[in-house]
Amino acid sequence: MNDLAPAEALRPALSGLLDGLPPKQAAQAVDRLIANYRGRTPTDAPVLRDRSDVVAYAAYRMPATFEAVRSALDAFAAAAPEDWSPGSHVDIGGGTGAATWAVSATWPQRRPVTVLDWAEPALALGRELAESNPLLSAARWQRSRIGAALTIESTDLVTISYVLGELTEDDRRSVVDAAADAGETVVIIEPGTPDGYARVIEARDRLIAAGLRVAAPCPHSAACPIEPGKDWCHFSSRVSRSSLHRRVKGGTLAYEDEKFSYVAATRLPATPAPARIVRRPQIRKGQVLLDLCVRDEALTRTTVTKRHGPRYKEARNAEWGDAWSSQD
Ligand SMILES: C[S@@+](CC[C@H](N)C(=O)[O-])C[C@H]1O[C@@H](n2cnc3c(N)ncnc32)[C@H](O)[C@@H]1O
Repeated sequence: MNDLAPAEALRPALSGLLDGLPPKQAAQAVDRLIANYRGRTPTDAPVLRDRSDVVAYAAYRMPATFEAVRSALDAFAAAAPEDWSPGSHVDIGGGTGAATWAVSATWPQRRPVTVLDWAEPALALGRELAESNPLLSAARWQRSRIGAALTIESTDLVTISYVLGELTEDDRRSVVDAAADAGETVVIIEPGTPDGYARVIEARDRLIAAGLRVAAPCPHSAACPIEPGKDWCHFSSRVSRSSLHRRVKGGTLAYEDEKFSYVAATRLPATPAPARIVRRPQIRKGQVLLDLCVRDEALTRTTVTKRHGPRYKEARNAEWGDAWSSQD
């Protein structure tokens, strides 16, 4: 990792990945990956079967899943007790380790880290990438299948990132229950689609039933005010695209926006935001329109105008997904 912060260090770690892999072969591996992910999931066997699959995954998806997890962890860190950081971390369905990089970027200390996944090639590449990050060099990369038999050691933090969508309904339930048993804090991230959101809400209900409280993104642990099927709660994270990324994904844009849904629930005495901005703020002449999810289980729109003084400046700088401190 040299002198780079963990967030910047992932990119150089990934950049050497495609060296030696002819561009055509890399492109084919990405196409295969996309086709597999569009196909039937859950599958009976890992989708990431060999080195070119996992290299394609790491180059094509890992920067985006890293940024999504990072955003969710940032929101959790803002709600967690001051100076809290996880003393240990278990990443379930961790693949090439995006969430482990995100945890070490959010709380840059050494801690015991365990990554569980059923795809050996993903674990092998994750281990290899982590060698360049001193905070992760001692991580354990352990082959395990998510299912009723999965046991998770007790830990301060469990992450489950972009995994629930690959599981059967039963396995989804059992992994969330196992995470709630083992983790003081559980952070679950899914794609920001209606289905991803539905899985997050189901998991959120289970975590609350297990005794955890929601720390982010919701301002409360009561029912989500979104009417099922009408809308979905999701956020967006900007991912800058390296030349490696452009090589495997095609296109010339310097960035892309990764949409994700998440829930962070905990047994810690957390302080959720009083309100969360749940849409991109609309900036009009002299006013900013903010769509908020607020504490009394409601969605509301507030208009902040120049009359609000410093609040107006704050609103102009506010971003989708940020906490908002009052309803104005
Ligand atoms: C989309 S990838 C996400 C990887 C990583 N968490 C991330 O955010 O980039 C899904 C991961 O879940 C793993 N997975 C899917 N079903 C599994 C199962 N039944 N048991 C263990 N791992 C599983 C896959 O092997 C893969 O690594």
